[in-house]
Amino acid sequence: MTRILVTGGTGYIGSHTCVELIQAGYEVVVMDNLYNSSEAVLDRIETIAGTRPKFYKTDLLDREGLETIFRENDIDAVIHFAGYKAVGESVAKPLLYYENNIAGSINLYETMAAHGVKTLVFSSSATVYGAPKSVPIREDFEVHTTNPYGSTKLMNEMILEDICTADPEWSVMLLRYFNPIGAHPSGLIGEVPNGIPNNLVPYIARVANGTLEYLRVWGNDYPTVDGTGVRDYIHVVDLAKGHISAVAYALEHKGAEKVNLGTGNGYSVLQVLHAYEKACGHELPYQIMERRPGDIATCYADTEKAASLLGWKAQYNIDDMCRDSWNFTVRNPDGIK
Ligand code: NAD
Ligand code: UD1
Repeated sequence: MTRILVTGGTGYIGSHTCVELIQAGYEVVVMDNLYNSSEAVLDRIETIAGTRPKFYKTDLLDREGLETIFRENDIDAVIHFAGYKAVGESVAKPLLYYENNIAGSINLYETMAAHGVKTLVFSSSATVYGAPKSVPIREDFEVHTTNPYGSTKLMNEMILEDICTADPEWSVMLLRYFNPIGAHPSGLIGEVPNGIPNNLVPYIARVANGTLEYLRVWGNDYPTVDGTGVRDYIHVVDLAKGHISAVAYALEHKGAEKVNLGTGNGYSVLQVLHAYEKACGHELPYQIMERRPGDIATCYADTEKAASLLGWKAQYNIDDMCRDSWNFTVRNPDGIK
């Protein structure tokens, strides 16, 4: 059986990917330091997929701990989610982000190389495109980052490409996610933000359940359908399935590939808000505010490469995403404990 190490496997995207991996017949080993997730997620994965992944509570910065995982398990490939992801915090604490996301990742890559494990799927982000010159965004567009979080994604991409150049035995998939939202249809796993959410859908979910009063819409004077920002929202289960296709590809091919994971469709803030109103069954208050610094007007993926290279295409629509987000929110008022 092919054995996959999932770093950050109890986190939001990692947990959904563990479910899909188990259901696709892979053996899964999870490592996470539980900084932004709970061990109870493993019970939820077991309930959905029927198997509890072997778990290591280990930090990427702990070289000995990583060594133990690779010594005790015959790993075939790694899917690397573990890292910090808050843009604003990365601006305030750049060294924390470079240490965790760069130094931590280098520890992982070195340990992999030492054990002859040279197949990796990496969580990158559409943030590496900065303000794109046009949409849809293709993988060969220029890259440019505007905050330390984005820079850690781009630097990891560069490091991994250099590793592939130096050693042609390596196989690396650089997956550039657009905006993952939603939750598993079971309502058992989903996103549990720390504190007041910055991202749109987690914020709307808290307006819908009454925890927050109203949505602040960051600007309505963009050149878009209704003046509000447009993004490519993708259901987290579709995104997780993209990883199954990517790891299967990586196990068969050498070298590095950059692939967008999005739907190819853009929705405005108000369109998402209205889709969420349908899902939760009541109107959601909002106020138009000034633009948020650093925001761009429109961002959505060209999905041709994911389709042709991986045979993968997103299946869920915006109504499905809002329905599953709301279902998870209602069922887990206190998160996953
Ligand atoms: P998440 O915070 O839910 O999951 C990340 C997991 O990594 C957490 O469980 C956390 O405890 C763990 N972790 C962090 N630092 C660690 C360390 N040093 N050692 C071990 N574990 C550590 O985040 P997510 O939304 O699931 O994102 C997963 C990956 O995808 C991240 O790399 C993120 O940057 C990237 N990404 C996320 C989005 C998004 O919108 N969610 C978009 C683009 C890219
Ligand atoms: C943000 C980050 C990006 C990161 C991504 C996923 C910024 C500038 N960008 O992207 O680097 O990769 O999250 O974590 O932080 N909106 C509101 N009100 C809100 C929240 C959001 O109107 O309370 C709007 C935004 O202006 C934007 C859209 O909703 O138009 C989506 O915002 P968000 O969910 O934060 O994602 P991104 O800005 O795409």
